[in-house]
Amino acid sequence: MIHSYWAYFVLALLLITIVKTILNLKKEYTLQDVRLPLFTLIASHIQLFIGLAWYFMSPAYKSLKENGMGATMKDGATRLLAVEHPIMMILAIVFITIGFSKHKKKTTDAGKFKTLAIWYGLALVLILSRIPWSNWF
Ligand code: HEM
Repeated sequence: MIHSYWAYFVLALLLITIVKTILNLKKEYTLQDVRLPLFTLIASHIQLFIGLAWYFMSPAYKSLKENGMGATMKDGATRLLAVEHPIMMILAIVFITIGFSKHKKKTTDAGKFKTLAIWYGLALVLILSRIPWSNWF
């Protein structure tokens, strides 16, 4: 349940960060601009830890262990929960982490905002593509 509710928070933060970053593209980067991307980074890492802990207790993992990888990959619903969702979400969180670290190293204001927009944007696409929507709603 925590993983399910925290997902709203992560998605909202990610969306707000991307929109704000795009709106700021031509503005000056101030110390305050680091806050939102940093909160998003922290929130996504918390989601990663909750997700990992839940994964090994989940019915999807149990089914993977009992039926093996071959059978899991043949069934779209189980494949999404046991394989695609975890892998894509980890990749998305890696993108957020890369984006945050790279944006800090950029020397121009526009470079910082652009780096954030690209990496956080890619992460959002991955997340939206592999959320188990039918389980969530
Ligand atoms: C930004 C990262 C993530 C987001 C936004 C996210 C979001 C979600 C959502 C919305 C659900 C459906 C919740 C429900 O059933 O009510 C879900 C389920 C789940 N997620 Fe994630 N998740 C993320 C990362 C991860 C990671 C990294 C793992 C594991 C390594 C993971 C493992 C799971 C598992 C095991 C389920 C439940 C599958 C089942 O119902 O059996 N998630 N996630």
